[in-house]
Amino acid sequence: MISVISRSEEETRRMGENVAKLLKGGEVIALSGNLGSGKTTFVKGLARGFGIRKAITSPTYILFRPYKLRRGRVFYHFDLYRLKSVRELSELGLHEILENGKNIVAIEWPQKAKKFLPKGTIHIRFTHGKKPNERLVTIWSKK
Ligand SMILES: Nc1ncnc2c1ncn2[C@@H]1O[C@H](COP(=O)(O)OP(=O)(O)OP(=O)(O)O)[C@@H](O)[C@H]1O
Ligand SMILES: [Mg+2]
Repeated sequence: MISVISRSEEETRRMGENVAKLLKGGEVIALSGNLGSGKTTFVKGLARGFGIRKAITSPTYILFRPYKLRRGRVFYHFDLYRLKSVRELSELGLHEILENGKNIVAIEWPQKAKKFLPKGTIHIRFTHGKKPNERLVTIWSKK
């Protein structure tokens, strides 16, 4: 487990950008933390790292958005804040999306999809720090 402090929105974006460059396909990133803790900001950084030019807006009402990447890969951004039932996730095809090694999947509010998350999921938790722009970013994976 590693913890780092981000001191600005831009710093959190840059973390996402750097992480994106390590991803090959098949990774699942679970982004947890309170409202406004920086999950979407991090996703914007991932998108920047992937070279996505489109603006990333939170897929709050539609639950997820796919973004085509190079070499047939697809980046999926899920925001499960408004998810009503776990059954909806099956209907959206989450299981199939997670299984496809060409996909990279980032999920906000992942506790709502707990049983779907594969063993190697990369967990990143954001917590507010003491100062207004401080966030503690903790990263771990079970295996
Ligand atoms: N160090 C920081 N890292 C990230 N965001 C920061 C930081 N400092 C301040 N902020 C501000 O906090 C907010 C983070 O918003 P963001 O949408 O990323 O949160 P979120 O975790 O996705 O929230 P939600 O649960 O509503 O989706 C932004 O307004 C951003 O400007
Ligand atoms: Mg968000």
